[in-house]
Order: sequence, then structure tokens, then C-alpha cells
Amino acid sequence: MKKFQSVRGMRDILPKESKTFRLLEQTLINLSNQYGYEEIRTPILEDTNLFIKSIGDGTDIVEKEMYTFKNLKENSFSMRPEGTASCARALIEHGLHDSINKLWYLGPFFRHERPQKGRYRQFHQFGIEFIGVENFEADIEIISLANSIWQKLNIKPILKINTIGDIDDRKKYTKILIDYFNKYKNKLNDNEKSKIDLNPLRILDSKNPNLKDIIGSAPKIKDYISKESNEHFENLLNGLERKNILYQRDDNLVRGLDYYNRTVFEYLDNSDNSQNTICAGGRYDLLFESLCEKKVPALGFAIGLERLLDYIKDKPIQKNSVVFYIAVMNQTDNLYAQNIAELIRKISENFSVLVSYNYTNLKVQLKKADKLSADYCVIIGEEESKNNSFQLKNMNSGQQEMVLNNNIEKYINVKCIKGNNYE
Ligand code: HAM
Repeated sequence: MKKFQSVRGMRDILPKESKTFRLLEQTLINLSNQYGYEEIRTPILEDTNLFIKSIGDGTDIVEKEMYTFKNLKENSFSMRPEGTASCARALIEHGLHDSINKLWYLGPFFRHERPQKGRYRQFHQFGIEFIGVENFEADIEIISLANSIWQKLNIKPILKINTIGDIDDRKKYTKILIDYFNKYKNKLNDNEKSKIDLNPLRILDSKNPNLKDIIGSAPKIKDYISKESNEHFENLLNGLERKNILYQRDDNLVRGLDYYNRTVFEYLDNSDNSQNTICAGGRYDLLFESLCEKKVPALGFAIGLERLLDYIKDKPIQKNSVVFYIAVMNQTDNLYAQNIAELIRKISENFSVLVSYNYTNLKVQLKKADKLSADYCVIIGEEESKNNSFQLKNMNSGQQEMVLNNNIEKYINVKCIKGNNYE
């Protein structure tokens, strides 16, 4: 019989991994809320033209990576390859783009790339968009937010940052690059050749080893940047230094989406993986204008959750729940155990309580509690159910005490919430 498998490049996230996913998402959400960002949810499907117009038709994403199809009326839709264009579309559609908007979003995105470690066809992003502020201080705020995320997760990715100037600076620079790369056409592969006229900036981040020196000696965008853009960038770098945020200036950083201007940045993990960008973003002050003819400054970034999880693999994220496992010795006491479980669940929504349905000896059940990483084991034997009580065993210290049911809330509040580091 044919065994079905998940579609290539798209994977199942099973309970063991999804727990860490959730914890990570919760950490990102909490921090973003603290900075005043609010959630936006947009549909998976959008009009294909939205992405063509915003991401750009010479980009890899639009040229070859979108999942696009037509409906019966021949209208073309695409599964979102990123979230910025959808946020802009939604704000314009609902007439909200005149004011300041601070948004976060979380969910699956789709790109038909060649799957490899850290690169999937369905992946998850946590995105931040800050709309309506032109000043460099906004750039500092979002980078500070990213940094506070890394601090919370106890990681130190490398921040690479550059300015790609304004649209006129880019036009000037693009012409110069086209001339430059045309001189080395014979060294370029077919894909790179096709980019010379369409999007020569993309050749700058080619990984082709034959191009290393050519790219190294290519004209630098910083020599074509307007005074205003330069000032914006210098002020930003100055601000980062004042906030003790480490960065590396990277003259060749240009990013793969056309909507960017001025600030662009990426955070790299410290590995040699080719897919080592865990977060990327920048300013896109011209995107709204291209969609609604109104100038609205904006900036943001998105974190690739799969890559971030892989990066923090060995560093536990602080658990936000306390796990209780209820070990029941006799089947006849199961309903009694279920009642205790409900009492505990009512005390705090951070309590997760599992009841055993396997009435084996205590040793086996304690092992099971350990396997489930339970913080406490509630032990119910014949005596306990008769006395309206239970034994509470702290799985870390091994300490065990008898608790009377009518004292449960007071006891658990003291022992299991206050002063308890849930790690
Ligand atoms: P992006 O650089 O295309 O930017 O993607 C952001 C992050 O998503 C990447 O740095 C990476 O961590 C993750 N990512 C992208 N493609 C894949 C993939 N195929 N598999 C796994 N992870 C992936 C954007 O999407 C912009 N919308 C970011 C932004 C928001 N700029 C301004 N606001």
C-alpha cells in the first residue's frame, strides 16, 4: 500500500519539538508586547501581483520560488513567501496606514527553494513591522528589540548592517554595477549572468567562490549614497554604539527583496552553515508609495523560527509551565485522581497536570514522571484517597509531603509557585 509522506521541504512538527516552538514563540510575543507591538494576522493567500509589485519581479522569490496558481476565473494567487507585503496591503486596505503601527506576526511562509538544512519550503517566521516613523531612532528601537530577544535566549548572533541609500542612489549604483559585472561576464555562471541587467545587486551576495575577488573589488554602494542617507546611517550606528550593541558594517550586504532602502541588516548565527541568517530586515520607506501612492516610512525584520531553534538547541528556554504527574496506584482511585488534577489546574493556568492510566508500582510511575520532565509527582494510594489527601513529591529535590485536599490551594501556591524557579 502507498505510504503517504509529507510534501518535500515541508515537515511535521511533532509534540516534542512543538513544545519548544511554543515556548520560543511565547518568549518572542511577550517581548514584542513589552515594546508595544500588536499582533496582525493576514491570509496565507494573496493576489500574486502584490508580491510582484512589492518584492520585485527580478528577485529569486518572485521569479522562481512562489507557490502560485490560478482559480477558475483565471485570477492568480500566491501563498505568501514573506509577511511585509501583506502587512502593508492590510493597513492600506483598512485605512490604517496614516498613523503609527507597531505590528508582529507569526506563522507559516512558503518558498519553493531547494530544501536543505535550515531551508524549507514551508517555514515559520516571527516578524516585526514598525510603520510611520522616518527617524533613525526607530531603526535603533527595532534592533534593540532583536537584541533583547537574543539576550533573553542567551545567544549572541552577529549583527551585519549596511545602508543601500535611497532609490536614486540605488539607480546610480546599479548602472555602475552593470558596467562592472559586464566586464567579468565570462566568470559568471548562467544564473549570475541573468542578474546583470535585472538585479545586479544580487550578484554581490553570490556564494560562488570564483567571484570572491571580483565581488571584493566591486564598486561599493557607500560611495554613491546621498548625504541624507549617510547621516541616517551614521546616526543609527552612533546610537547602537551608545547602547553597546555590537555590529559589523558589511558593504556588500544588499538583501534579496527590492522594497528595501537605507538600513538593511541581518543576524547570523556563529555556524558555518550556508543558511546561517536567523533574522533579517531593514527599512522600506517606498513600499507603501508603490502600493497606494502615499509615502509612509516603515521598517521591520523577520526571524526564521526553524533556524533560531536550531541555533538555541542546546540552551533550554525557560519553561513557563509547571508539570504535575499524578501517579495512581489503584484503578478504583482514578476518578479521585482526576478530581485532584482539576483542583490543581484551577490554581494556575501555568500548571499542566497529567493523570496516569497505568496502575503499576510507584517506581515505574515515578520513572514515567521523570520522562515527562514533571516538576512534581502527586502520589495517590489507597490511604490518600480514604483521607482526602495526596503525597506531593518534588522531582528535583526528592522531598515528599502529605497534602490535605482542603489545604491544596494554599499549599501549592506556596510550594509550587512562589520562589520556584521553573527551570
Ligand atoms: P527574508 O530575509 O526573506 O526577509 O527572511 C527572513 C528570515 O526568514 C531569514 O533570515 C531566515 O531566517 C528565514 N527564512 C527565509 N527563507 C527561509 C526558508 N526557505 N527556510 C527557512 N527559513 C527561511 C523577509 O522575509 C522580510 N519580510 C523581512 C522583513 C520584515 N523586512 C522588513 N520587515
